[in-house]
Amino acid sequence: MPISTPKRLHVITWGCQMNVYDSARMADVLAPLGYAPAEGPEDADMVILNTCHIRDRATEKVFSELGRLRLVKNARAEAGHNTILAVAGCVAQAEGREILARAPYVDIILGPQTYHRLPEMVAQAARAAGTVIDTDFPAEQKFDFLPDAAAPQSAGGITAFLTIQEGCDKFCSFCVVPYTRGAEASRPAAAIIAEARRMVAAGVREITLLGQNVNAWHGAGPDGTPQTLARLLRALAEIPGLARLRYTTSHPRDMDDDLIAAHGDLPQLMPFLHLPVQSGSDRMLAAMNRKHTAADYLRLIGRLRAARPDLAMSSDFIVGHPGETEADFEATLDLIRSVGFSQAFSFKYSPRPGTPAAGAPHQVPEAEKDRRLYALQDLLRAQQADFNARCVGLTLPVLITGQGRHRGQIAGRSPYLQPVHLTGPAELIGQEIMVCIDDAHTNSLSGATLKEKACA
Ligand code: SAH
Ligand code: SF4
Ligand code: F3S
Repeated sequence: MPISTPKRLHVITWGCQMNVYDSARMADVLAPLGYAPAEGPEDADMVILNTCHIRDRATEKVFSELGRLRLVKNARAEAGHNTILAVAGCVAQAEGREILARAPYVDIILGPQTYHRLPEMVAQAARAAGTVIDTDFPAEQKFDFLPDAAAPQSAGGITAFLTIQEGCDKFCSFCVVPYTRGAEASRPAAAIIAEARRMVAAGVREITLLGQNVNAWHGAGPDGTPQTLARLLRALAEIPGLARLRYTTSHPRDMDDDLIAAHGDLPQLMPFLHLPVQSGSDRMLAAMNRKHTAADYLRLIGRLRAARPDLAMSSDFIVGHPGETEADFEATLDLIRSVGFSQAFSFKYSPRPGTPAAGAPHQVPEAEKDRRLYALQDLLRAQQADFNARCVGLTLPVLITGQGRHRGQIAGRSPYLQPVHLTGPAELIGQEIMVCIDDAHTNSLSGATLKEKACA
């Protein structure tokens, strides 16, 4: 029987959407132990810091946050309250031993594959004085041991993330993910469909399928035949009440014919695709171990847009990977000009300990990385502004996800993932309504419902 003394849990989440999903599942796994959400670390009996190791001074950032949490823990101890402090996520996986050595006041250190063992670690931490550490890649699948997702995790519960695949076997030269998340593993289709149904029953209208390489997802049909992501999307599209589907992050190498076709024939699949390319230079793409060329990428987008002409594209770019010359960088700008992105993320290359690129010769000087990043972001900003401006005057289906910042305002998402603000009653939350877009801003749009304004 679950023990349920009321206790409070505070989770701090950094990093990718998968961490957001994982944080919600850690809260689910602790709920039967009596943990309800806390307002902040000050009133929490347990604090989990869910960390990211992808770039920059990840480890230092963790230690500085832990320093702050230590003060909270000490203050609470003086008032007679115990606080369990846990570090989870990708820094815990990669730097568990260092955390143990430098921050012995941390009670639990756990890697992304062991969240289902959290209750047992909490019990151990409560008993013992030392730190409990578990950064295994266990043979059992954590998803088989986690309880069903209790409630949709994202704001308002209209949109939700659903992890379908984890880990990565691609070993790009620069990336820590294969080391922190382990080998590629897919969840079974039946478990995913059941989870999606529960989400929809709880009011979710839009689901984003998550995976480090979400389009590498593979499963088996009832008769054992292999299935790919397109098949899964088609099955999910049949769930009544599920208005919208998205998936992220995909790899260009795993975009198969059926998935491209699904963009053309599944109305629930939103016309927005985040497809990281990293660079437009074939030399850099080879050095990065991406295993495709710039022309392959452009061809792929041509085929996707043939299937779904209004497909909005997003991507990730890295500037200053070891060996990147001015000509390589120019090739990236050329690729961006050829595609025209509706938004994109760009980063300065950041050496990650233990990855091949970190030890490679011809590291690019910091000042040069800065210069390239500014130039690249200028171009991407202009493309985003242009994309948003082209939406003005259109009537778009907007899924209303919650209240806006001002009284009487509501907010939602366009098919192209732009935030949209408008005036309207809160009863519209959860509905997909037609909105006449009348203004564009840097990262969002504003408009009016058709009732209020006759659109051209
Ligand atoms: N699996 C996804 C990416 C996950 S990481 C994919 O392959 O597309 C998200 C993004 O962080 C990457 O696309 C890359 O642009 C960036 N990134 C990863 N490692 C990095 C590093 N060492 N330095 C700078 N950016 C990095
Ligand atoms: Fe990292 Fe490359 Fe795997 Fe993406 S595909 S998670 S960038 S190793
Ligand atoms: Fe960061 Fe780990 Fe996600 S390194 S980006 S939290 S997979």
